[in-house]
Amino acid sequence: MDTDRLKESFAKVAQHGDAVPTYFYGYLFIRAPELRDLFPASMAAQRDKLVNALGTVVSNVDSFDQLSFFVRGLGRDHRKFGVLAEHYAPVAEALLATLAYHLGDEWTPQLAADWQAAYEIVAGEMTAAATEAEATTPAWWDAPIVAHERRPGTSIAIITVRPEAAWDHIPGQSVGIQAPRRPRVWRHYSPASAPRADNTVEFHIRARPGGTLSPALVFGMGVGDELRLGPPSGSALTLYAADPDRDLLMLAGGTGLAPLRALVEQLANEAGTAGQPRRVTLFHGGRVTADLYDMTTLTELRQGRPWLNVLPVISDDPYYRGDRGTPVEAALRAGRWSDHEVYVCGPPGMVADSTKRLREAGVPEERLHVEEFDGQGYIPSSRPLAAVGGAR
Ligand code: HEM
Repeated sequence: MDTDRLKESFAKVAQHGDAVPTYFYGYLFIRAPELRDLFPASMAAQRDKLVNALGTVVSNVDSFDQLSFFVRGLGRDHRKFGVLAEHYAPVAEALLATLAYHLGDEWTPQLAADWQAAYEIVAGEMTAAATEAEATTPAWWDAPIVAHERRPGTSIAIITVRPEAAWDHIPGQSVGIQAPRRPRVWRHYSPASAPRADNTVEFHIRARPGGTLSPALVFGMGVGDELRLGPPSGSALTLYAADPDRDLLMLAGGTGLAPLRALVEQLANEAGTAGQPRRVTLFHGGRVTADLYDMTTLTELRQGRPWLNVLPVISDDPYYRGDRGTPVEAALRAGRWSDHEVYVCGPPGMVADSTKRLREAGVPEERLHVEEFDGQGYIPSSRPLAAVGGAR
């Protein structure tokens, strides 16, 4: 199998932009109309969620050792969409038809055979993992909201759910959330809490103007309403991705605080009476003071924990008397971090700017742990595929 040709051919097809998912879904829903019900009613916002992932994952089949953890997780995760083993064949057919259509004369029988073989490897692993998971794990967890607190002056809500069956995650992972009144619309969010004995999970959600799910979660729902959670996924932002002996710097933009607070809670839980050997410096940034919506909890967490330092920083309020700028600017003013493990979470621009400056300040690539979210939730697939995997 010529995997360079797979990647090259997919890159060429991807240049056709929106025409690619349009063709793919057009073909798929004519070939297998029963699959339409698995997808959200309106797919305009993110037409290429599946097609782009399909092309990227399948054409990277040569990195299968690194990919297999990710792919198996994906297979288990697809149970929450209602995907069954028999759905993989029509999807393969639609993918190959889409590639053939856009590649024209460059689509050869050999290339077709290679795409088919690569797809079968990935699909085989996904369906095997889904079948294994069926014996032990629900496809999704019904999770009623047990607390819903709007944060004044913001469009943020702190939402706590209690899944009806045991639901476990590793701090730093993210999870698909769905609200039954927005059927089949799943968005990833990262819990702000470490696992708790009462099985409750806390999320920090900002309503994104025009968003499909987040405004409903923040403004349209309350205690007693049901959400659905998928299985947790991702490892890039967990503590297991880092050297356990180094101190930690954490930079949070807005509700990007959530997974970082979960990490702090994990460290606090593990510390017990023996204390915490690693120092943690957490900068939480917002445009205006209301954006620092979780300071009360962070201040409480600091009590009696000399290893934890929490520093607020505000970028857009000229009257703010504390530290001004972005989290990375404040951090670079405050110290040197090249020997730290650094965790960054926030909007894509904030993450890109922070990582650029941290690299310039001498933080090695392998000590930078990042996750982005775009207001539609986290973007786990934006990580280089090789870096995704690990804990799941
Ligand atoms: C090689 C096989 C496949 C790969 C690599 C793949 C990959 C992906 C990925 C990465 C996502 C985004 C996940 C997320 O945002 O949580 C996704 C979404 C999805 N996939 Fe798959 N998938 C495959 C096969 C299938 C099949 C056979 C179906 C059955 C119809 C399917 C149905 C879906 C649906 C319904 C979504 C959600 C789409 C949306 O929310 O717009 N996938 N897939």
